[in-house]
Order: sequence, then structure tokens, then C-alpha cells
Amino acid sequence: MTLKLNPETIAAQAGGAVDAETGAVVLPVHLATTFIRDPDNQYRKGYDYGRPDNATVRQAEGVLNTLEGGAATLLLGSGMAAATTAFLALERPAHVVAPQIMYWGLRKWLAEDARAHGIEATFADAADPALLAAAIRPTRTRLVWLESPANPLWTVSDIAAVAGVAHGAGALLAVDSTAATPVLTRPLALGADIVMHSATKYLNGHSDVLAGALTFARTDAVFERAARARKMLGAILGPFEASLLIRGMRTLHLRVRHQSASAMAMASHFRNHPKIVQVLYPGLQEHPGHAVAARQMHGGFGGMLSVRVRAGERAAINAAAHVKVWKRATSLGGVESLIEHRASVEGPSTPCPADLLRLSAGIEDVADLIDDLERALDAPLA
Ligand SMILES: Cc1ncc(COP(=O)(O)O)c(C=O)c1O
Repeated sequence: MTLKLNPETIAAQAGGAVDAETGAVVLPVHLATTFIRDPDNQYRKGYDYGRPDNATVRQAEGVLNTLEGGAATLLLGSGMAAATTAFLALERPAHVVAPQIMYWGLRKWLAEDARAHGIEATFADAADPALLAAAIRPTRTRLVWLESPANPLWTVSDIAAVAGVAHGAGALLAVDSTAATPVLTRPLALGADIVMHSATKYLNGHSDVLAGALTFARTDAVFERAARARKMLGAILGPFEASLLIRGMRTLHLRVRHQSASAMAMASHFRNHPKIVQVLYPGLQEHPGHAVAARQMHGGFGGMLSVRVRAGERAAINAAAHVKVWKRATSLGGVESLIEHRASVEGPSTPCPADLLRLSAGIEDVADLIDDLERALDAPLA
């Protein structure tokens, strides 16, 4: 009898597998890059070489695939490897529509590099399905890309509505769900065709692995081309990273719920703070995407928020310089809280206001985080 288990149980037990030889509840890390052929020249065990895939990577893929409710998942060497592989899996030439507000590295690749690969991107306001629809070129647009909530303003897109728009025009929908995680949102159930994660962030959760993931609603031609691209271009994840990722995903639900609760507490605390002009967090009623987020996110609004410092850019950078508990570093989704002056990272083309600090809530006591940020906001300008 196969038990019907909830995602949290699957994640906690990393898929539930026990090592057949030893009974170990943690599976061994498979390091081999090559495998014995059967005497009749077959590879019946399903493995021939380490670049197409690896048993430890497959275990991690299986866990994530269940969490996302997909037909198949591919892990790659980074979030960027996963995202670019999704675009390179399209039939080309391809027109794609992407959000104006999105992870800046991928926006940069789409704007500056993708054309050389036969991909032309149009950027649109992804908070409004009608504006996305207007950017679609009938018969030419192959993919609509969303990120929700989207870096660094935590813009929310209505995944179900955009799926309708994309499919109506014959395009696929892919969603970068890094900030939402499968704990809070399951884009495939809302109609998306592909879910992408920078597994570097919440899925691993400990700031010690670079990894990316693509989960597909169907094992169709796009999936086949993505698997081929990973194999031929070699952007596979290593087995050590896969085993760390498996360990990280065991506590995903605990971490994300705690981080969401802390982010909500901080958003509520700072929204009327005299030194803060605006808090950007989908959990706040005044956030423009709140109603959609309340519909499509379950159990919380995520661990990411941004605050805009009333006294401007210098004061924001000064506050980041004076934190003691927060870590002044890029990235997000780890157990330690991170603070970052985002415009300094993104450069002149950023849509990010200069007074904005991006906050990634970790799992520390939220009172310590609030006190530390209060102190830093009070520090005299250096
Ligand atoms: C939302 C989002 N997508 C994609 C990426 C890229 O992931 P990676 O750094 O693992 O390549 C990041 C990294 O910051 C991200 O925040």
C-alpha cells in the first residue's frame, strides 16, 4: 500500500528512502562518475556516466518534484543555470515576455546576452496580467516568465491569471518561485508549466550550496530539451551539493514558516516607524499585491521584505553599516538574516529605489533582529 503523505512529511524524511544494504536512514552520497556495463552491453541500472545524472541528485530531485507536484525535476549547478536552461530549452528563435521587476542577474542575461542565443525579451509590468498580455506577440511568444514575489520590491503576480493569458496565446508559463518556496505556493497547481528555484536560497537554506532547479508539469519536448541541455552543456549539480540540499530540504517547512512569521512581525513593526518611509511586504494590506498573495500563498507571505529609509540613500547605507546581528551580505533564504543595500548591487539600470534595504529574515529571535535594526537606524551618519 502506498501511503498518501503530506509534503512536510516527504521533506522531513527526504522521500523516505532507507539504504537497502545498511538500513541507514540517510542515503549514502554517490560519488561515482562512471558505472559498470552489463555483460550484454546494457546499462540496466539506469546509470552510465555522472554528467547526465547521479543517484544523490536524483534523490534530491525526487523530493523537490513531490513538493512542487511536478512530472519531473532537474537540478542544475546554480539558479542561473536552471533559469537559462529553461530559456535555452525553447524552440528558437523565441520571443519571451519577462517582468520589469525580477532577479537582476536574469534580467541582465535576458537584456544583454539572450539575443545571441535566438531569444528576444520584452519586459512588462508583471503585476498586471493585461499589461503582460499586451506584451505577448501572438504566434511568436513562446514563454512568459514570472517571479512572485519578485526581487527586490516583492511584486506579486497572479500566476493563475497569467497562465490563462500565456496559454491563450500559445505560450508557456515559467515561474521563478525562489522567494515563495513550495511551502507557500505551488505554481504548477495554479497553471504554470515550469517552476524554477534558486535552490541556493530557501530550499538549501544554509548559505553553503549553489544549486538551481526546474520542475516541469509534463515530461514533454521542452523537458527533453532542458535535460539534453543540462547533459550537453554540463551544468549538473555535484553529489556533495545534492546531499547538502537534501539535508536542507528536511527542515524547509520549519524554516520557511518561522521566516515568514518573522518577516511579517518586522513588516508590522517598521511600517509606522519614523525612520522608515515604506515597508514592501506582500503580507501588509497596503501592498498592491496583497489580495493576490493572500489567494495564492498559503501559510505565510515569505521571509523577504524591503524597507525604504526616510532620510535617503546615505542613511540606508549607514544603517546597513551599523547592524551587528544582521549580516551585511547579498543572497537570501538562509538561517542567518541578511541585509543589503540593493541598488549598490544592481547598478545604474536598477528599478530599485536608492533608499531601499532588502531584508532576508533568518531563523533568529525576531526581537533581536528588530532591536538590531532599530539601533542601526539610530546610528549617526558616518
Ligand atoms: C529570485 C532569484 N532567482 C534566481 C537567482 C539566481 O540564483 P543563483 O545565484 O543560485 O544562480 C537568484 C539569486 O539571487 C534569485 O534571488
